[in-house]
Amino acid sequence: MTAPETTPEQIAQTLIYPYLNHAVKFLQDEYATAADIDNGMRFGCGYPAGPLAYLDSVGPGMVRDALAARYAETGDSLHKPVALLDRMADEGGTFHGNAGSSGATVPEFKRDITRVGVVGTGTMASGIVQVFAQAGYDVVFVGRSQDKLDGVVGYIAKNIDRAIAKGKSTEEDKQAVLDRLAGATERVALADADLVVEAIAEDLAIKTELFSDLDALVKPGAILATTTSSLPIARLAASTTRPGDVIGMHFFNPAPVMKLVEIVTTPQTEPEVDETVRALTAKVGKVGVSCGDRAGFIVNALLFPYLNDAVKLAEDGVELSRIDAAIKEQVGLPMGPFELLDVVGNDVSLAIEKELHAEFEEPGLAPAATLERKVAEGKLGRKTGEGFHTY
Ligand code: 3HC
Repeated sequence: MTAPETTPEQIAQTLIYPYLNHAVKFLQDEYATAADIDNGMRFGCGYPAGPLAYLDSVGPGMVRDALAARYAETGDSLHKPVALLDRMADEGGTFHGNAGSSGATVPEFKRDITRVGVVGTGTMASGIVQVFAQAGYDVVFVGRSQDKLDGVVGYIAKNIDRAIAKGKSTEEDKQAVLDRLAGATERVALADADLVVEAIAEDLAIKTELFSDLDALVKPGAILATTTSSLPIARLAASTTRPGDVIGMHFFNPAPVMKLVEIVTTPQTEPEVDETVRALTAKVGKVGVSCGDRAGFIVNALLFPYLNDAVKLAEDGVELSRIDAAIKEQVGLPMGPFELLDVVGNDVSLAIEKELHAEFEEPGLAPAATLERKVAEGKLGRKTGEGFHTY
Protein backbone atom coordinates (compact mmCIF):
# COMPACT_ATOMS: atom_id res chain seq x y z
CA MET A 1 0.00 0.00 0.00
CA THR A 2 1.30 3.44 -0.89
CA ALA A 3 1.58 5.84 2.04
CA PRO A 4 0.76 9.56 1.68
CA GLU A 5 4.39 10.42 2.44
CA THR A 6 5.50 8.62 -0.75
CA THR A 7 8.35 10.51 -2.44
CA PRO A 8 8.05 12.10 -5.91
CA GLU A 9 10.37 9.37 -7.28
CA GLN A 10 8.13 6.65 -5.86
CA ILE A 11 4.99 8.33 -7.23
CA ALA A 12 6.57 8.50 -10.68
CA GLN A 13 7.73 4.87 -10.61
CA THR A 14 4.37 3.64 -9.32
CA LEU A 15 2.57 5.28 -12.23
CA ILE A 16 5.10 5.11 -15.05
CA TYR A 17 6.61 1.61 -14.82
CA PRO A 18 3.37 -0.27 -15.55
CA TYR A 19 2.85 2.08 -18.53
CA LEU A 20 6.34 1.17 -19.84
CA ASN A 21 5.58 -2.53 -19.39
CA HIS A 22 2.34 -2.08 -21.29
CA ALA A 23 4.16 -0.37 -24.17
CA VAL A 24 6.58 -3.32 -24.41
CA LYS A 25 3.57 -5.64 -24.57
CA PHE A 26 2.25 -3.72 -27.62
CA LEU A 27 5.61 -4.26 -29.32
CA GLN A 28 5.73 -7.90 -28.28
CA ASP A 29 2.19 -8.43 -29.66
CA GLU A 30 3.24 -6.67 -32.91
CA TYR A 31 0.26 -4.35 -32.53
CA ALA A 32 2.40 -1.39 -33.67
CA THR A 33 6.03 -0.66 -34.50
CA ALA A 34 8.43 0.70 -31.88
CA ALA A 35 8.57 4.02 -33.76
CA ASP A 36 4.78 4.32 -33.94
CA ILE A 37 4.37 3.47 -30.24
CA ASP A 38 6.88 6.15 -29.28
CA ASN A 39 5.66 8.71 -31.80
CA GLY A 40 2.13 8.14 -30.54
CA MET A 41 2.99 9.28 -27.02
CA ARG A 42 5.35 12.05 -28.14
CA PHE A 43 3.04 13.67 -30.65
CA GLY A 44 -0.33 12.71 -29.11
CA CYS A 45 0.46 13.78 -25.55
CA GLY A 46 3.52 15.99 -25.89
CA TYR A 47 5.79 13.60 -23.99
CA PRO A 48 9.49 14.42 -24.29
CA ALA A 49 10.23 10.78 -25.17
CA GLY A 50 8.17 7.74 -26.10
CA PRO A 51 7.94 4.87 -23.59
CA LEU A 52 10.43 2.62 -25.38
CA ALA A 53 13.09 5.33 -25.71
CA TYR A 54 12.45 6.24 -22.07
CA LEU A 55 12.93 2.59 -21.09
CA ASP A 56 16.21 2.52 -22.97
CA SER A 57 17.38 5.60 -21.07
CA VAL A 58 16.36 4.27 -17.64
CA GLY A 59 17.56 0.76 -18.39
CA PRO A 60 15.25 -2.24 -18.99
CA GLY A 61 16.88 -4.15 -16.11
CA MET A 62 15.99 -1.57 -13.49
CA VAL A 63 12.38 -1.28 -14.66
CA ARG A 64 12.00 -5.07 -14.89
CA ASP A 65 13.34 -5.58 -11.35
CA ALA A 66 11.12 -2.86 -9.87
CA LEU A 67 8.06 -4.30 -11.61
CA ALA A 68 8.89 -7.86 -10.54
CA ALA A 69 9.12 -6.74 -6.91
CA ARG A 70 5.81 -4.92 -7.21
CA TYR A 71 4.14 -7.91 -8.88
CA ALA A 72 5.24 -10.08 -5.98
CA GLU A 73 3.39 -7.63 -3.71
CA THR A 74 0.23 -6.92 -5.72
CA GLY A 75 -0.28 -10.05 -7.86
CA ASP A 76 -1.72 -7.66 -10.50
CA SER A 77 -0.82 -9.12 -13.89
CA LEU A 78 -0.32 -5.58 -15.24
CA HIS A 79 2.74 -5.39 -12.96
CA LYS A 80 4.25 -8.65 -14.19
CA PRO A 81 7.20 -7.84 -16.50
CA VAL A 82 6.25 -8.97 -20.02
CA ALA A 83 8.49 -11.59 -21.66
CA LEU A 84 10.15 -9.14 -24.07
CA LEU A 85 11.08 -6.78 -21.22
CA ASP A 86 12.51 -9.71 -19.31
CA ARG A 87 14.56 -10.76 -22.32
CA MET A 88 15.88 -7.23 -22.97
CA ALA A 89 16.80 -6.91 -19.31
CA ASP A 90 18.67 -10.25 -19.37
CA GLU A 91 20.41 -9.57 -22.69
CA GLY A 92 21.17 -5.89 -21.97
CA GLY A 93 19.38 -4.97 -25.22
CA THR A 94 17.50 -1.81 -26.15
CA PHE A 95 14.17 -1.07 -27.81
CA HIS A 96 15.30 1.74 -30.16
CA GLY A 97 11.99 3.48 -29.71
CA ASN A 98 11.87 6.85 -31.40
CA ALA A 99 14.88 6.08 -33.53
CA GLY A 100 13.32 3.96 -36.25
CA SER A 101 10.99 5.04 -39.00
CA SER A 102 7.52 3.53 -39.05
CA GLY A 103 8.79 1.29 -41.82
CA ALA A 104 6.31 2.62 -44.37
CA THR A 105 7.38 4.32 -47.60
CA VAL A 106 6.39 7.96 -48.12
CA PRO A 107 2.65 7.80 -48.75
CA GLU A 108 1.08 9.18 -51.92
CA PHE A 109 -2.40 10.48 -52.62
CA LYS A 110 -4.23 7.63 -54.36
CA ARG A 111 -7.48 9.61 -54.38
CA ASP A 112 -7.82 13.39 -54.90
CA ILE A 113 -8.70 15.35 -51.80
CA THR A 114 -9.69 18.97 -52.34
CA ARG A 115 -12.89 19.44 -50.37
CA VAL A 116 -13.05 18.25 -46.79
CA GLY A 117 -16.19 17.81 -44.72
CA VAL A 118 -16.40 17.71 -40.92
CA VAL A 119 -19.45 16.65 -38.92
CA GLY A 120 -19.74 18.06 -35.41
CA THR A 121 -19.23 21.36 -33.61
CA GLY A 122 -17.59 20.34 -30.32
CA THR A 123 -13.99 20.87 -29.24
CA MET A 124 -12.55 18.09 -31.39
CA ALA A 125 -14.62 18.97 -34.47
CA SER A 126 -13.70 22.67 -34.16
CA GLY A 127 -10.01 21.83 -33.87
CA ILE A 128 -10.17 19.48 -36.86
CA VAL A 129 -11.90 22.12 -39.00
CA GLN A 130 -9.10 24.53 -38.05
CA VAL A 131 -6.37 22.01 -38.97
CA PHE A 132 -7.76 21.46 -42.48
CA ALA A 133 -8.56 25.12 -43.15
CA GLN A 134 -5.09 26.21 -42.01
CA ALA A 135 -3.58 23.64 -44.36
CA GLY A 136 -5.41 25.33 -47.25
CA TYR A 137 -8.45 23.04 -47.63
CA ASP A 138 -11.99 24.30 -48.19
CA VAL A 139 -13.95 22.85 -45.30
CA VAL A 140 -17.70 22.28 -45.10
CA PHE A 141 -18.76 21.59 -41.53
CA VAL A 142 -22.14 20.48 -40.37
CA GLY A 143 -23.79 21.21 -37.02
CA ARG A 144 -27.25 21.12 -35.55
CA SER A 145 -27.86 24.88 -35.28
CA GLN A 146 -26.53 28.21 -36.50
CA ASP A 147 -25.38 28.94 -32.93
CA LYS A 148 -23.20 25.85 -32.91
CA LEU A 149 -21.77 26.69 -36.33
CA ASP A 150 -20.95 30.20 -35.08
CA GLY A 151 -19.24 28.58 -32.09
CA VAL A 152 -16.80 26.76 -34.40
CA VAL A 153 -15.90 29.97 -36.22
CA GLY A 154 -15.50 31.72 -32.85
CA TYR A 155 -13.18 28.97 -31.55
CA ILE A 156 -10.96 29.19 -34.63
CA ALA A 157 -10.93 33.01 -34.66
CA LYS A 158 -9.95 33.05 -30.97
CA ASN A 159 -7.11 30.58 -31.54
CA ILE A 160 -5.76 32.60 -34.45
CA ASP A 161 -6.16 35.87 -32.48
CA ARG A 162 -3.95 34.33 -29.79
CA ALA A 163 -1.36 33.49 -32.44
CA ILE A 164 -1.61 37.03 -33.86
CA ALA A 165 -1.02 38.48 -30.39
CA LYS A 166 2.17 36.38 -30.20
CA GLY A 167 3.26 37.59 -33.65
CA LYS A 168 2.82 34.08 -35.12
CA SER A 169 -0.04 34.88 -37.49
CA THR A 170 -1.59 37.87 -39.24
CA GLU A 171 -5.08 39.33 -39.81
CA GLU A 172 -4.73 38.36 -43.51
CA ASP A 173 -3.99 34.73 -42.63
CA LYS A 174 -6.92 34.70 -40.26
CA GLN A 175 -9.26 36.05 -42.93
CA ALA A 176 -7.96 33.51 -45.46
CA VAL A 177 -8.65 30.65 -43.03
CA LEU A 178 -12.13 31.95 -42.18
CA ASP A 179 -12.92 32.37 -45.90
CA ARG A 180 -12.31 28.65 -46.43
CA LEU A 181 -15.03 27.71 -43.94
CA ALA A 182 -18.61 26.93 -44.91
CA GLY A 183 -20.98 25.94 -42.12
CA ALA A 184 -24.23 24.10 -42.83
CA THR A 185 -27.07 22.67 -40.78
CA GLU A 186 -27.96 20.03 -43.38
CA ARG A 187 -25.78 17.01 -44.06
CA VAL A 188 -26.50 17.21 -47.78
CA ALA A 189 -23.89 20.02 -47.87
CA LEU A 190 -21.30 17.22 -47.60
CA ALA A 191 -22.37 15.58 -50.87
CA ASP A 192 -19.33 16.82 -52.84
CA ALA A 193 -16.69 16.32 -50.16
CA ASP A 194 -13.74 14.07 -51.03
CA LEU A 195 -13.27 13.15 -47.39
CA VAL A 196 -15.60 13.54 -44.42
CA VAL A 197 -14.33 13.33 -40.82
CA GLU A 198 -16.96 12.90 -38.15
CA ALA A 199 -16.42 14.09 -34.59
CA ILE A 200 -19.90 13.81 -33.04
CA ALA A 201 -21.03 12.16 -29.78
CA GLU A 202 -19.20 8.97 -28.73
CA ASP A 203 -22.33 6.84 -29.00
CA LEU A 204 -22.52 3.85 -31.29
CA ALA A 205 -26.19 4.32 -32.21
CA ILE A 206 -25.67 8.01 -33.05
CA LYS A 207 -22.56 7.30 -35.11
CA THR A 208 -23.99 4.34 -37.02
CA GLU A 209 -27.02 6.44 -37.97
CA LEU A 210 -24.61 9.12 -39.23
CA PHE A 211 -22.52 6.66 -41.24
CA SER A 212 -25.52 5.14 -42.95
CA ASP A 213 -26.68 8.66 -43.81
CA LEU A 214 -23.23 9.68 -45.11
CA ASP A 215 -23.21 6.51 -47.19
CA ALA A 216 -26.43 7.64 -48.86
CA LEU A 217 -25.45 11.32 -49.25
CA VAL A 218 -21.76 11.59 -50.01
CA LYS A 219 -20.47 11.00 -53.53
CA PRO A 220 -19.00 7.60 -54.45
CA GLY A 221 -15.25 7.32 -53.92
CA ALA A 222 -15.24 9.73 -50.97
CA ILE A 223 -13.44 8.63 -47.81
CA LEU A 224 -15.53 8.42 -44.64
CA ALA A 225 -13.40 8.91 -41.54
CA THR A 226 -14.18 8.90 -37.84
CA THR A 227 -12.25 10.42 -34.98
CA THR A 228 -13.80 8.06 -32.46
CA SER A 229 -11.56 7.24 -29.54
CA SER A 230 -13.51 4.34 -28.15
CA LEU A 231 -15.86 2.71 -30.65
CA PRO A 232 -15.07 -0.14 -33.07
CA ILE A 233 -14.58 1.35 -36.52
CA ALA A 234 -15.64 -1.92 -38.14
CA ARG A 235 -19.13 -1.41 -36.64
CA LEU A 236 -19.36 2.03 -38.27
CA ALA A 237 -18.08 0.62 -41.56
CA ALA A 238 -20.71 -2.12 -41.40
CA SER A 239 -23.48 0.48 -41.40
CA THR A 240 -22.43 1.58 -44.90
CA THR A 241 -22.39 -0.15 -48.27
CA ARG A 242 -18.72 0.91 -48.70
CA PRO A 243 -16.74 -0.42 -45.75
CA GLY A 244 -13.56 -0.20 -47.84
CA ASP A 245 -13.84 3.63 -47.74
CA VAL A 246 -14.15 3.80 -43.94
CA ILE A 247 -11.13 4.56 -41.74
CA GLY A 248 -10.21 6.07 -38.36
CA MET A 249 -8.40 9.42 -38.11
CA HIS A 250 -7.99 9.86 -34.38
CA PHE A 251 -6.91 13.42 -33.54
CA PHE A 252 -5.77 14.52 -30.07
CA ASN A 253 -6.94 17.33 -27.85
CA PRO A 254 -6.30 20.21 -28.59
CA ALA A 255 -6.28 19.16 -32.26
CA PRO A 256 -4.62 22.33 -33.63
CA VAL A 257 -1.66 21.77 -31.26
CA MET A 258 -1.18 18.02 -30.83
CA LYS A 259 0.63 16.71 -33.88
CA LEU A 260 -0.60 13.13 -33.84
CA VAL A 261 -3.22 11.36 -35.90
CA GLU A 262 -3.73 7.65 -35.30
CA ILE A 263 -4.71 6.10 -38.61
CA VAL A 264 -6.87 3.12 -37.85
CA THR A 265 -7.71 0.56 -40.49
CA THR A 266 -10.20 -2.28 -40.28
CA PRO A 267 -9.60 -5.53 -42.19
CA GLN A 268 -11.89 -4.09 -44.88
CA THR A 269 -10.29 -0.67 -45.34
CA GLU A 270 -8.93 -0.37 -48.89
CA PRO A 271 -5.12 0.06 -48.99
CA GLU A 272 -5.54 3.14 -51.23
CA VAL A 273 -7.79 4.74 -48.60
CA ASP A 274 -5.17 4.06 -45.93
CA GLU A 275 -2.40 5.48 -48.10
CA THR A 276 -4.40 8.58 -49.07
CA VAL A 277 -5.19 9.32 -45.43
CA ARG A 278 -1.54 8.87 -44.48
CA ALA A 279 -0.57 11.31 -47.27
CA LEU A 280 -3.25 13.78 -46.14
CA THR A 281 -2.15 13.55 -42.50
CA ALA A 282 1.41 14.49 -43.51
CA LYS A 283 0.13 17.27 -45.78
CA VAL A 284 -1.77 18.95 -42.93
CA GLY A 285 1.43 18.91 -40.87
CA LYS A 286 0.58 16.04 -38.56
CA VAL A 287 2.45 12.85 -37.71
CA GLY A 288 0.50 9.70 -38.58
CA VAL A 289 0.91 6.39 -36.80
CA SER A 290 -0.78 3.20 -37.98
CA CYS A 291 -2.64 0.69 -35.88
CA GLY A 292 -5.47 -1.81 -35.93
CA ASP A 293 -9.08 -1.40 -34.84
CA ARG A 294 -8.70 -2.31 -31.16
CA ALA A 295 -9.94 -0.52 -28.03
CA GLY A 296 -7.85 2.56 -27.22
CA PHE A 297 -5.67 2.18 -30.33
CA ILE A 298 -2.07 2.95 -29.30
CA VAL A 299 -2.20 6.11 -27.27
CA ASN A 300 -5.38 5.87 -25.24
CA ALA A 301 -4.67 2.24 -24.41
CA LEU A 302 -1.34 3.32 -22.90
CA LEU A 303 -2.46 6.67 -21.47
CA PHE A 304 -5.74 5.89 -19.71
CA PRO A 305 -4.60 2.97 -17.53
CA TYR A 306 -1.90 5.34 -16.24
CA LEU A 307 -4.46 8.11 -15.59
CA ASN A 308 -6.73 5.60 -13.86
CA ASP A 309 -3.82 4.40 -11.70
CA ALA A 310 -3.21 8.02 -10.69
CA VAL A 311 -6.81 8.27 -9.46
CA LYS A 312 -6.33 5.03 -7.49
CA LEU A 313 -3.11 6.40 -5.99
CA ALA A 314 -5.02 9.48 -4.85
CA GLU A 315 -7.63 7.15 -3.34
CA ASP A 316 -4.76 5.64 -1.32
CA GLY A 317 -4.24 9.05 0.22
CA VAL A 318 -1.60 10.75 -1.93
CA GLU A 319 -2.52 14.38 -2.65
CA LEU A 320 -3.55 15.21 -6.23
CA SER A 321 -1.23 18.17 -6.50
CA ARG A 322 1.74 16.08 -5.32
CA ILE A 323 0.99 13.49 -7.99
CA ASP A 324 0.65 16.15 -10.72
CA ALA A 325 3.88 17.80 -9.62
CA ALA A 326 5.83 14.52 -9.35
CA ILE A 327 4.92 13.47 -12.88
CA LYS A 328 5.92 16.83 -14.36
CA GLU A 329 9.17 17.11 -12.39
CA GLN A 330 10.33 13.50 -12.47
CA VAL A 331 9.24 12.44 -15.97
CA GLY A 332 8.94 15.80 -17.73
CA LEU A 333 5.37 15.22 -18.96
CA PRO A 334 3.61 18.48 -19.95
CA MET A 335 0.67 17.94 -17.60
CA GLY A 336 0.06 15.97 -14.45
CA PRO A 337 -2.58 13.21 -14.68
CA PHE A 338 -5.32 15.21 -12.92
CA GLU A 339 -4.68 18.30 -15.04
CA LEU A 340 -4.96 16.13 -18.14
CA LEU A 341 -8.09 14.31 -16.93
CA ASP A 342 -9.72 17.73 -16.49
CA VAL A 343 -8.76 18.73 -20.05
CA VAL A 344 -10.00 15.48 -21.61
CA GLY A 345 -13.18 15.41 -19.48
CA ASN A 346 -13.96 12.79 -16.85
CA ASP A 347 -16.94 11.53 -18.84
CA VAL A 348 -14.76 10.88 -21.89
CA SER A 349 -12.06 9.30 -19.71
CA LEU A 350 -14.53 7.03 -17.96
CA ALA A 351 -15.98 5.88 -21.30
CA ILE A 352 -12.48 5.02 -22.57
CA GLU A 353 -11.53 3.19 -19.38
CA LYS A 354 -14.73 1.14 -19.47
CA GLU A 355 -13.99 0.23 -23.07
CA LEU A 356 -10.42 -0.86 -22.24
CA HIS A 357 -11.60 -2.86 -19.23
CA ALA A 358 -14.25 -4.63 -21.33
CA GLU A 359 -11.87 -5.47 -24.18
CA PHE A 360 -8.76 -6.53 -22.27
CA GLU A 361 -10.55 -8.04 -19.23
CA GLU A 362 -7.79 -7.06 -16.79
CA PRO A 363 -9.08 -6.46 -13.24
CA GLY A 364 -6.43 -3.73 -12.89
CA LEU A 365 -8.15 -1.76 -15.66
CA ALA A 366 -11.44 -1.37 -13.76
CA PRO A 367 -12.31 2.36 -13.66
CA ALA A 368 -11.38 4.00 -10.34
CA ALA A 369 -14.38 4.58 -8.06
CA THR A 370 -13.57 8.30 -7.73
CA LEU A 371 -13.72 8.76 -11.49
CA GLU A 372 -17.19 7.16 -11.58
CA ARG A 373 -18.23 9.46 -8.72
CA LYS A 374 -16.93 12.62 -10.40
CA VAL A 375 -18.95 11.79 -13.50
CA ALA A 376 -22.10 11.03 -11.47
CA GLU A 377 -21.69 14.40 -9.73
CA GLY A 378 -21.29 16.23 -13.05
CA LYS A 379 -17.72 17.24 -12.18
CA LEU A 380 -16.42 16.62 -15.66
CA GLY A 381 -13.34 18.85 -15.71
CA ARG A 382 -12.57 22.22 -17.27
CA LYS A 383 -15.74 22.20 -19.34
CA THR A 384 -17.95 22.26 -16.21
CA GLY A 385 -15.61 24.43 -14.13
CA GLU A 386 -14.73 21.57 -11.77
CA GLY A 387 -13.24 18.12 -12.11
CA PHE A 388 -10.32 16.98 -10.01
CA HIS A 389 -9.23 20.62 -9.81
CA THR A 390 -11.48 23.72 -9.78
CA TYR A 391 -11.32 26.33 -12.60
N1 3HC B 1 -6.50 25.30 -28.96
C1 3HC B 1 -5.57 25.78 -29.80
N2 3HC B 1 -4.32 26.10 -29.45
C2 3HC B 1 -3.97 25.96 -28.14
C3 3HC B 1 -4.89 25.46 -27.20
C4 3HC B 1 -6.21 25.14 -27.65
N3 3HC B 1 -7.14 24.65 -26.83
N4 3HC B 1 -4.28 25.42 -26.00
C5 3HC B 1 -3.02 25.84 -26.19
N5 3HC B 1 -2.83 26.16 -27.48
C6 3HC B 1 -1.59 26.60 -28.12
C7 3HC B 1 -1.08 27.90 -27.61
O1 3HC B 1 -1.61 28.98 -28.33
C8 3HC B 1 0.41 27.77 -27.84
O2 3HC B 1 0.72 28.00 -29.20
P1 3HC B 1 2.17 28.53 -29.69
O3 3HC B 1 3.17 27.53 -29.20
O4 3HC B 1 2.05 28.59 -31.17
O5 3HC B 1 2.34 29.86 -29.05
C9 3HC B 1 0.70 26.30 -27.57
O6 3HC B 1 -0.57 25.64 -27.75
C10 3HC B 1 1.22 26.05 -26.19
O7 3HC B 1 0.27 26.59 -25.28
P2 3HC B 1 0.63 27.31 -23.91
O8 3HC B 1 1.98 27.89 -23.99
O9 3HC B 1 -0.51 28.15 -23.50
O10 3HC B 1 0.55 26.14 -22.84
P3 3HC B 1 1.43 24.87 -22.64
O11 3HC B 1 2.83 25.08 -23.02
O12 3HC B 1 1.06 24.44 -21.29
O13 3HC B 1 0.83 23.82 -23.68
C11 3HC B 1 -0.58 22.00 -24.21
C12 3HC B 1 -0.51 23.41 -23.65
C13 3HC B 1 -0.10 22.01 -25.66
C14 3HC B 1 -2.03 21.59 -24.17
C15 3HC B 1 0.35 21.09 -23.34
O14 3HC B 1 0.05 21.24 -21.99
C16 3HC B 1 0.25 19.62 -23.69
O15 3HC B 1 0.92 19.15 -24.59
N6 3HC B 1 -0.57 18.86 -22.92
C17 3HC B 1 -0.82 17.45 -23.15
C18 3HC B 1 -2.15 17.30 -23.83
C19 3HC B 1 -2.49 15.87 -24.10
O16 3HC B 1 -1.93 14.94 -23.53
N7 3HC B 1 -3.45 15.65 -25.00
C20 3HC B 1 -3.92 14.32 -25.32
C21 3HC B 1 -5.13 13.98 -24.50
S1 3HC B 1 -5.80 12.39 -24.90
C22 3HC B 1 -6.73 12.65 -26.27
O17 3HC B 1 -6.88 13.74 -26.78
C23 3HC B 1 -7.37 11.46 -26.84
C24 3HC B 1 -8.87 11.52 -26.82
O18 3HC B 1 -9.38 10.38 -27.47
C25 3HC B 1 -9.43 11.61 -25.43
